Amino acid sequence: MALVAPSILSADFSALGEAIDFLDKEAVDYIHIDVMDGLYVPNLTFGPPVIRSIRSRTEIPFDVHLMIDRPEHSVDQYIAAGADRITFHTDATIHSHRLVYAIKEAGVRAGISLNPGQSPESIRYLLDDLDLILVMSVNPGFGGQKFIESSVEKVREIRKMLRGRDVEIMVDGGVNEHTGKRLVEAGARSLVAGSYIFGHEDPSSAIRALRSL
Ligand code: DX5
Ligand code: ZN
Repeated sequence: MALVAPSILSADFSALGEAIDFLDKEAVDYIHIDVMDGLYVPNLTFGPPVIRSIRSRTEIPFDVHLMIDRPEHSVDQYIAAGADRITFHTDATIHSHRLVYAIKEAGVRAGISLNPGQSPESIRYLLDDLDLILVMSVNPGFGGQKFIESSVEKVREIRKMLRGRDVEIMVDGGVNEHTGKRLVEAGARSLVAGSYIFGHEDPSSAIRALRSL
């Protein structure tokens, strides 16, 4: 069974509370929250105040994906707003190892995200410290993009590199029941999905389809 993390980037922002209530009812494994700053990626979403306001509606863990430049400057605000897991991009900060520790010392799980053009080799010496690795299977910034095929091989490579370490491999971008199946077979434990779930005529069945992989 795959863990499912719907991305609220594809939800209707004018009815965000209802989207959270829906995911709460579906008892999804995580709610994936895409924070974009218009600098690290060419799109702008939401920040700590929005996260804080939806926090009171559900107990489901918040999986916060920071697509922001210099995440070390504001990570405390995301922790205070109610993040349960925080993933950042190594090329947005200078001292990745220090930031991983700062997140973990605050009692929050820490993850690193790899863009489609980045090699897993760059995080080899962080593997003992990470809770999760978020493999981007699209270039970050937008929902609804086409799945990048080489991501499947990358997941397989990371699984090998981990040598049994208890680090969750999560994949984000262009995930649906077909791509998801191949990713899980390659070693992914959790799947982020935005447009597949929220664009589906029956979002509950989309969640069930991913969960059954
Ligand atoms: C992209 C985001 C994703 C996005 C995925 O930068 O990190 O989480 O919501 O959207 P889909 O599932 O539509 O590709
Ligand atoms: Zn994301």
